[in-house]
Amino acid sequence: MDGPALPQGYRLAWFEELDSTNSQARRMGEQGEQGPVWIVAERQTAGRGRRGRAWASPSGNLMCTLYLQPRCSPAKAGELSFVAGLALHDTASAIAGPAFSDIIRLKWPNDLLLGGKKASGILLESATQGSGEVSWLAVGIGLNLAEFPEGTEFPATSLAAETGQQVSPREAVAVLAHAFDKWLKIWQGPEGFKPLRDAWAARAAGLGGTITARLPEETVTGTFIGLDEDGALRLRLDTGAERAISAGDVFFGTR
Ligand code: BTN
Repeated sequence: MDGPALPQGYRLAWFEELDSTNSQARRMGEQGEQGPVWIVAERQTAGRGRRGRAWASPSGNLMCTLYLQPRCSPAKAGELSFVAGLALHDTASAIAGPAFSDIIRLKWPNDLLLGGKKASGILLESATQGSGEVSWLAVGIGLNLAEFPEGTEFPATSLAAETGQQVSPREAVAVLAHAFDKWLKIWQGPEGFKPLRDAWAARAAGLGGTITARLPEETVTGTFIGLDEDGALRLRLDTGAERAISAGDVFFGTR
């Protein structure tokens, strides 16, 4: 089946069903695939989210993974989750149209919100070689085009539910792939991560407001004042001290 083209230099690996597009990326990495490849599954039987959660993967939604060999350190490769977040923001904005620009926001570290509800998530997985460089990276992206799960801890939604726009996974992955390639080239440019950090902050949900970060050992509440140079969330605590959060679940307000 033909569809809108991917940017030049990328392959498309399309599957009716997979356990997980990230697991497929891992298998490709173990077989020495060089990439870049966009792996898409119409359905996933074992879709994974962050922190070991399952990711609901019905047909009609976009479940995909960009397989890359970025040839950089794991910390640097982690910045690609911001490339993915910005690409998702562009994709949702292009599909929804200008009337919806105010409701499309990014939630740290890398969720896309529509009207304050989660419509997309990103899961980065990688393997590292002896030199310490990343040997392959899987940028897994789920975008709720049509369906969304009920009863999730953070409320979920879909592009169709919030905007009335219905697009196929094939159309959506082409838009996403072009947007990803645009931000990837900016990231590879002379200024590196900084323009992405600034662009991400301009699209952030909750900046300047109270945020609660749930970490493995503690819960921290403070004012969300921005991102540091590595993309960590900067919180100003009631004491006036600043705290950088590198990993955790974030909620708006106090909990
Ligand atoms: C999250 O928890 O927010 C991240 C969700 C990531 C889901 C995507 S769907 C495509 C890829 N394959 C997976 O198994 N997970 C990611």
